[in-house]
Amino acid sequence: MPKIVIAIDGYSSCGKSTTAKAVAAKMGYGYIDTGAMYRAVTLFFLQERVSFSNKKEIEAALDRIHITFKHNARTGKNETCLNGLNVEEEIRKMYISNLVSEVSAIPEVRWAMVAQQQKMGRRRGLVMDGRDIGTKVFPNAEIKVFMTAETYIRAKRRQQELLAKGELVGLEEIIKNIEKRDLIDTTRSESPLVQAPDAILLDTSHMTIEEQVDWVIELADRRL
Ligand code: C5P
Repeated sequence: MPKIVIAIDGYSSCGKSTTAKAVAAKMGYGYIDTGAMYRAVTLFFLQERVSFSNKKEIEAALDRIHITFKHNARTGKNETCLNGLNVEEEIRKMYISNLVSEVSAIPEVRWAMVAQQQKMGRRRGLVMDGRDIGTKVFPNAEIKVFMTAETYIRAKRRQQELLAKGELVGLEEIIKNIEKRDLIDTTRSESPLVQAPDAILLDTSHMTIEEQVDWVIELADRRL
């Protein structure tokens, strides 16, 4: 059976990553969380005190960043590694969420990440989630999904995720973060978050993860 690329874009906390991961596992495909890559870059910039407005510093820092994904057989989870170190837990924290959209709006950062993502996608049979996968990274992806959900529901989901990791954050702070990220992501000059004309819109507000996964698999089955 021919292998395809499935691009899942959309707003944060709509269930993109969880859905994409499960779809990839069911189909025996690879999975790339591109948001994790931008989060890892943000962490590196903070660690190295890179100024977000200094192009030279940014370019030099990008040359020293190597991001990989590893499957941990013991926990069954995917880990994001920054220069060989597992940063999975750190990059999900609120202080990274508060700065990641600013960092991912920097054109040099996007060019470097998009080039890496396109390289990863040379091997077909891939589910990739992010903000610009169907528009910029893989404009020829066979399946394109654009996910959205009500802000309050997205915030509640995000709060639960953070709580499960031991971080207690108020709903108001999360809503503010989501709205700020939406605004930066949709208005930046370099590949802003926008629904590709051939992407299918999925409102996940009242769907379970299982329903979202089945919906994408059905779409893929029809295409294969
Ligand atoms: O998917 P996640 O919420 O972890 O992504 C974190 C941030 O990374 C997003 O808010 C967005 O600013 C940025 N991002 C991006 N392009 C992608 C994936 C994520 O700009 N392809």
